Amino acid sequence: MSEKKRLVVLTGAGISAESGFKTFRDSDGLWEQYKVEDVASIEGWYRNPELIIDFYNDLRTQLEKAQPNDGHKILAELEKYFDVRIITQNVDNLHERAGSTHVVHLHGELTKVRPVNNASKIYDIGYSRMTYGDKSPDNELLRPHIVWFGEAVPMISEASRLVRDADIFAVIGSSLVVYPAAGLVHDLRGKTEAFLIDPKEVSVPTGMKFKVIREVASKGVAIMRDELLREFGFAS
Ligand code: APR
Repeated sequence: MSEKKRLVVLTGAGISAESGFKTFRDSDGLWEQYKVEDVASIEGWYRNPELIIDFYNDLRTQLEKAQPNDGHKILAELEKYFDVRIITQNVDNLHERAGSTHVVHLHGELTKVRPVNNASKIYDIGYSRMTYGDKSPDNELLRPHIVWFGEAVPMISEASRLVRDADIFAVIGSSLVVYPAAGLVHDLRGKTEAFLIDPKEVSVPTGMKFKVIREVASKGVAIMRDELLREFGFAS
């Protein structure tokens, strides 16, 4: 059995929009409601940690009721045909709940917390709400396991390696404006087939050839699937 082709997918907030989550930079986006520096930066944490705890508590409560949409589900189904690796900027667990088995979270995970002084001891709190002052079993002050603006992105080198090794690459639901995640497109090798799925225009570095599917994720991922299954001989 020949080795499966490697499909690497970079997802952003847009893939979870049809699951009821606001994106960040659309007209009704989260950054219209909150100041990003207040709820998604390390300075914000030092300034007002309770505001941040409430922000992520509300998202965690929403996540419990949310469901993966067809965009997430079709990516999981494609594991039957391809070696699929998801690199997501999202902190939700909808890729995992849809069945994807290789998910790299660049910006952390909503259902997890960690000591403020130790990013490697991670605790899963599921969908429960946390309170500022909560301590770990080792009596360390806990914070959401989220990568905020102003902080390092520990998984970026693993993500960069995945993109370099990709046979097929897709960006789904990201405005590609936040680095280092957006910079991953520069790791693409020339011969990698690249797709971009988004209902709006997304600017990519000049000279880069993407097959643009101007659709929402649920429809766009289905179109990409049909094209890939035909191209790789899994469907007529
Ligand atoms: N299907 C697919 N894409 C969609 C949909 C949809 N239903 N709805 C919106 N989009 C697209 C938008 O057109 C936009 O290009 O999703 C993209 C969302 O862009 P952003 O809101 O900027 O989200 P993202 O790119 O994930 O932001 C990156 O910024 O604030 C930080 O840490 C946060 O991880 C986030 C990072």
